[in-house]
Amino acid sequence: MTQTTLKDEQDAVRKVFVKTYGCQMNVYDSMRMTDALAPAGFVETTDPEDADLILLNTCHIREKAAEKVYSEVGRMRKVRETRAEAGKRTLIGVAGCVAQAEGEEIVRRSPAVDLVFGPQSYHRLPALIAASEAGTGPVVDTEFPAEDKFNHLPKVDASPQRRRSITAFLTVQEGCDKFCTFCVVPYTRGAEMSRPVSAVLDEARRLIDAGVREIMLLGQNVNAYHGLGPDGREWGLAALLEALARIDGLERLRYTTSHPRDMDDALITAHRDLDKLMPYLHLPVQSGSDRILDLMNRRHDRALFFGIIERLRDMRPDLALSSDFIVGFPGETDADFAQTMDLVREIGFAQAYSFKYSPRPGTPAETMDQQVPETVKTERLHALQALLAEQQGAFADSLVGTRLSVLFEKLGRKPGQVVGRSPYLQPVHIEGDTNLIGEIADVTITATGRNSLFGQLTPPDRNLMPRSVSVSAQLAAGAGS
Ligand code: 5AD
Ligand code: SF4
Repeated sequence: MTQTTLKDEQDAVRKVFVKTYGCQMNVYDSMRMTDALAPAGFVETTDPEDADLILLNTCHIREKAAEKVYSEVGRMRKVRETRAEAGKRTLIGVAGCVAQAEGEEIVRRSPAVDLVFGPQSYHRLPALIAASEAGTGPVVDTEFPAEDKFNHLPKVDASPQRRRSITAFLTVQEGCDKFCTFCVVPYTRGAEMSRPVSAVLDEARRLIDAGVREIMLLGQNVNAYHGLGPDGREWGLAALLEALARIDGLERLRYTTSHPRDMDDALITAHRDLDKLMPYLHLPVQSGSDRILDLMNRRHDRALFFGIIERLRDMRPDLALSSDFIVGFPGETDADFAQTMDLVREIGFAQAYSFKYSPRPGTPAETMDQQVPETVKTERLHALQALLAEQQGAFADSLVGTRLSVLFEKLGRKPGQVVGRSPYLQPVHIEGDTNLIGEIADVTITATGRNSLFGQLTPPDRNLMPRSVSVSAQLAAGAGS
C-alpha cells in the first residue's frame, strides 16, 4: 500500500514548502530534506499556498523558539483550509528539535499536524509521507536509529537545476556529549557523531562543482570532530580542514560552533597555517564567572578561555571573535554578571549573541534553586548587549580605510549593488558588476552601516600590499578598557 502510493505519485510533480527556524544546521537539514524528497517527485516552492507538503523545521533551544512553532502550525492550518476549498490536499509536518523533544505531544496539541519527525529521520521522509498518505492518523518518528542517516540520504544534488549559492553549509558532526546543564541539544540531537572524512570531501567537491566557493563546516560541537580518515585513523577537525583546503576551487573555509575544551593545538595552529581558513571564530563562552561556568557544567573556566584566545591571537593576530552568552543562569549574582562584563571588555568581540537564560524541560538547570527574576535578566541582557554593540561598532569602524578581500555572493537590494562577505563575515556592499558574483576582490572600506560595511573596489595596484588589520588591538581600544 505504502509502496504503491509513492510509486504512483513518482511522476507527478508535487510541491514542498519548508520553513526553517534556528541554527545553521537546520538550514543545512532543510536542504537535505528537499534533496531527499526529490526522488519522491517533490520540488521546492517558496509559497506555502502552493505547497502539497508544508514542513516546519523547528528549534527548541529557547522557549520562545519552540512556542513560535505552534502559532505557525495555526497559520498553516488556515492555508490548508483554503487549499481544501480548491480541492487540494495538504500535509503538514513538524521536523527538527521541537519534533524530537515533544514528539506525540505535538499532535495532541495541534491535531492539524500529520507528521512529526526528528533530525535523525530525514532520510526516511518519503516513506513517512507515504505512510501518512496511507492515512491511519498522524505519523510520529522520533527514534534515534542505529543507522547513519547520512549514508541513506541522497548525495547533495549538484545539478544546475538545484540552485546553490556561493557559500554553503556542510554538516560534518552532529550531536553533543557535553551536557551543559541549560542545554537541550544532547537530548534532541543525541550523542556526538562525526561523518567520515571521505564523505565530507566528496560532499565538498560536489558543492564546489555546483558553484560554491566558501564552505562553513557545521556541527553542534564541530571542533570535537573525530571522523574516520582514509588511513583508518580518526582525524580531528584540523586535519579535515587541511584536506579541504587542498581542494581547488574552494576559496574559503569556516567552522561553527565550537567548544573551548576542544580547541586543540592542531586547530589553533591551523588558524596560522591555512590561508583559506577565514580569520573569524565563533567560540561560545556563555559566562565570565567560574562559579556559573561550573554550575553550567561547561568543563572550562575563565582562565582556559583567556589562554585559548591568547594562543589563537598569537597564531593569527587579525582573528575576529564571536561568542554566545547567557545571562540570568540560576544563581547568577551581580558579581557573577560583572565577571561576564569584565571578560567581554578584556577580550573584545567583533560580534556576539546573547540570551536570557530560558529553562528547558528535562535539563538539570530547569530545577536548580535561585532562578533569576525576569526583570534582572532583562536588565543584564540590555547592559551586555549595549557593550557588545559598542564593540561590534568599534570593530567595524576600525576597518574603514582598510582593504579587505570580499567574496561576492549576490545582488544587493539597490540597483547596481553587489554584496559579499568580508573575511570577518560582515556583509560588504559595493557598486559593481554582476559578474563579480562568485569572485573574490579587494575592497577599500569607506563606511559602516548597522550590520554591514560599504566600500569600493580597490583599483589593482601591485605596489599596494594589503594592510593587515590588528583586530585585537583595535578592539581593545574600541572597548575603552
Ligand atoms: N537558555 C538560553 N540560551 C540558551 N542557549 C542554549 N540553551 C539555552 C537556554 N536554555 C544558547 C547558548 C548556546 C546558543 C546556541 O544558545 O548560548 O551557545
Ligand atoms: Fe549545548 Fe553546546 Fe553545551 Fe553541547 S556544548 S550541551 S550543544 S551548549
